[in-house]
Amino acid sequence: MYTQPENRSQAEKITLATLVKMKAAGEKIACLTAYDASFAALLDNAGVDVVLVGDSLGNVIQGHATTVPVTMDDMVYHSRLVGRGLKRAFFMVDMPFMTYSTPQIALSNAARLMQEGCAQMVKLEGSGKQAEIVCYLNENGVPVCAHLGLRPQNVHKLGGFKVQGRGKQAARQMLKDALLLEKAGADIILLELVPQALAAEITSEVQVPVIGIGAGAGVDGQILVLYDMLDISPGRRPKFVRNFMQDAAGPRAAVEAYVQAVRSGSYPGPEHSFE
Ligand code: KIV
Repeated sequence: MYTQPENRSQAEKITLATLVKMKAAGEKIACLTAYDASFAALLDNAGVDVVLVGDSLGNVIQGHATTVPVTMDDMVYHSRLVGRGLKRAFFMVDMPFMTYSTPQIALSNAARLMQEGCAQMVKLEGSGKQAEIVCYLNENGVPVCAHLGLRPQNVHKLGGFKVQGRGKQAARQMLKDALLLEKAGADIILLELVPQALAAEITSEVQVPVIGIGAGAGVDGQILVLYDMLDISPGRRPKFVRNFMQDAAGPRAAVEAYVQAVRSGSYPGPEHSFE
């Protein structure tokens, strides 16, 4: 508690342009979630490229069964904490349920996340139907990550956490949505629980970086919920999560092993992916 802050990495600050260059160079992007300043600094020092304050905080911090109860005030609060821990990583923050239902509402909430929470990019769960919102945010200078595939905020509509984009028609629709959202101005596409072949196809069709979670190895980068890969989350571990604490001396070593595994392409393996 009273120790001096660790010497921060002098490495260059990661920007959106860095991530685009990494995609072009075929360098994998390592991303993780964080919810507080101490873990944020640990991730930053361990070489994580993108840190997300996910609305998964509703599950892992607040103990809810879904992300639906998470509010803008919750996100702003945790973003402030995480922002204080970051020096190098690019900083993305989730827009919670019902906070981007119209372009105007989305813009005023995104402004809060950027001005009060220090976010450099907002993430919203969408389909092609959110293109107008993405376009409005883009026109107003807000960098956007569009989250496709499994959209946990829709869990009550979907009836559970299931792989998305299975079947020819659903796969075509997801590719179409990704292209539409890119055209509308999305700077990053995130794919959750998507068959690996479809995720790889979307990655090669769009110009922007594609980050996957349960979407196989053919994407430009990986993200996991920090508490899942540190084996803190209660309950059954999802198929796509590797427990990086298993062979690590501590959380810092586990996060370094994750960064190394993403960069080298050894994570995710076929056992973490969906056909
Ligand atoms: O909320 C979150 O943590 C997320 C990740 C699972 C990508 O959206």
